[in-house]
Amino acid sequence: MKLTRRSLILAAPALLVARQAWAATDPTPRASEGPFYPVEIPSDHDSDLVRIDSLVREAGGEILQLRGEVTDTGAKPVAGAVVEIWQCDANGVYRHPGDRRPNLRDTAFQGFGRTTTNSDGSFSFRTILPVPYPGRTPHIHAKIIADGRPALTTQFYRAGYGQNDRDFLYNRMSAEERERVSMAIRPQSSNSKTQWETDIVIVLPRRG
Ligand SMILES: [Fe+2]
Repeated sequence: MKLTRRSLILAAPALLVARQAWAATDPTPRASEGPFYPVEIPSDHDSDLVRIDSLVREAGGEILQLRGEVTDTGAKPVAGAVVEIWQCDANGVYRHPGDRRPNLRDTAFQGFGRTTTNSDGSFSFRTILPVPYPGRTPHIHAKIIADGRPALTTQFYRAGYGQNDRDFLYNRMSAEERERVSMAIRPQSSNSKTQWETDIVIVLPRRG
């Protein structure tokens, strides 16, 4: 077939559908675990990173309700998957002996949380809006472990954050990959404390 301008225009919707179907079933892009995965899992590692059981004070920072869904490459929810997240505190310091600025650490921030997906693949965390730290744009690390599949380790970014374009890991991704690890963060008006919410989708790699 001779490719005229008109035939290209007519074919465009079909190409678009094919591309979207491909995008929906491709696994979430992987990213390095980085140096700050906990050396030892803390005793309080629940899905509320803003509060540590033994403390009255809550962590500093702006609260983020992080909701997500874990699916397979066929867009089917994955129940019972273990989802872990970890991130630095509001001062940009990790709860990790390798962080070089321990004196600045917010001791009320849990830093790491773990949960399991429900029957519909959903999960949620109460955490803080990620902030930059030296050398990195804001991000939340995540690791997902599900039966019979290779573990997926990745990082999620704040959509539209000015510093993203200067981040060495963010820059390694294509525009489409960036889109799939970006969190669109919306204000949540129901609380007097500054609060935000976001929804993400994590697509697991195929069974090994
Ligand atoms: Fe990090």
